[in-house]
Amino acid sequence: MNFKIKKKEGLNGELVIPGDKSISHRSIMCASLAEGESEIIGFLEGEDCLATIEAFVKMGVNLKKKENKIIVKGVGLHGLNQPKEDLYLGNSGTSMRLLSGLLAGQNFSSKLTGDNSLSSRPMLRIVNPLTQMGVDISCNKNGMPPLFIDSSNEINGIKYVLPVASAQVKSCLMFAALYANEESEIIENEQTRDHSERMFKKFGIQILEESSVNKKIIKIQPATKLNATTLNIPGDFSSAAFFILAATINPDSELTLKNVGLNPTRTALLTVLMEMGANIEIKNSRDDYEPSADILVKSSRLDGIDLDEKLISNLIDELPVLFIAAAFANGPTKIRGAEELRTKESDRLEAMSKSLSALGVNYDLFEDGIDIKGNSNFNKSVKINSFGDHRIAMASAVACSMIDGDNIIENVNNVSTSFPNFVQISNSIGMDIDHI
Ligand code: S3P
Repeated sequence: MNFKIKKKEGLNGELVIPGDKSISHRSIMCASLAEGESEIIGFLEGEDCLATIEAFVKMGVNLKKKENKIIVKGVGLHGLNQPKEDLYLGNSGTSMRLLSGLLAGQNFSSKLTGDNSLSSRPMLRIVNPLTQMGVDISCNKNGMPPLFIDSSNEINGIKYVLPVASAQVKSCLMFAALYANEESEIIENEQTRDHSERMFKKFGIQILEESSVNKKIIKIQPATKLNATTLNIPGDFSSAAFFILAATINPDSELTLKNVGLNPTRTALLTVLMEMGANIEIKNSRDDYEPSADILVKSSRLDGIDLDEKLISNLIDELPVLFIAAAFANGPTKIRGAEELRTKESDRLEAMSKSLSALGVNYDLFEDGIDIKGNSNFNKSVKINSFGDHRIAMASAVACSMIDGDNIIENVNNVSTSFPNFVQISNSIGMDIDHI
């Protein structure tokens, strides 16, 4: 499937962004392992999170939808059943990496598979530390899925310094640590999203976090139980990012995005866009286990920026949006230290540079980043390949709504992994996107 997009000026209105993907995955995992019935409100019904649900259904967990809630009857830490078939996780790296840690603690073996994109993503980053914990886990000879986990072994605690800034690796080890025979210590030298830490606490797991400048130590004891709970999932900041940018670069626009998750480990894009000149206001802040607020965005001119590398892990999923912001800004933007982009649903440095080329934007590509020359003469009636990557498709769609002619974005099916109603919401605020 493709998008056909026409230029539209003036995006206006109020919109509700679907639930946070990272939090939705974690809510199902913790609720399934808890004792008692949990209620999850605002769950993201995108394909990635549905793949996580499907995996737990295959392991005997009873999950039901009731109005706007998912009701999960937890089976306890040791109550999952061996799945009768492979756990197919589609496009979802979060499902595969977090589940691996959780499955390491079960007394049955399992096989985890995914689509072509997930099958070419690096898994040694979890296989190596889990092996150190005594887990019998293997992947293919290139370090990629499928993963085989034989969990009859006892698991040892681990003291592990994360070699890559990855919340998925951290969270994988946090789940495994619940099943270890002693305390584990996970150390990060670059801040990554802390949804697992917050979610564990919400389910009654005592974890100790010791933070100093650029360093956090998470100490986790073997768990005896998780307590069922009720939780509200705020809108996904990464999905909101497309509309924050759209309203910023599109003249005569004013958008209010309601109840968006503003976890400080996720929102560096706001700081960066405001430094570039964006007109953004935060209103009605709420603080539950995760902070959230409404975001008001008005059109404004942007200037290019030399991005502080330290912010990369706090805007990793928003970098495609930032590339488009840079394309429409005055002056150059420099981004470095972003080599992790090459390991995402596509090689996002490569994919976004192709998107910029199609738009007529000049850039220099590097192994770990890009220099983008802003404010060029854009091409008309452009054709962009999203490489089957949801975030490339949506970031490019925002650019195309500023470009004359009939613009096409190819291969957009995977938008439904994170944002199933993206087209409907876009059109409701005045954009012109068709599926063809
Ligand atoms: C995620 C962590 C990030 C992010 C992904 C979701 C999570 O991945 O890119 O979309 O939910 O923990 P990495 O841990 O690989 O950086």
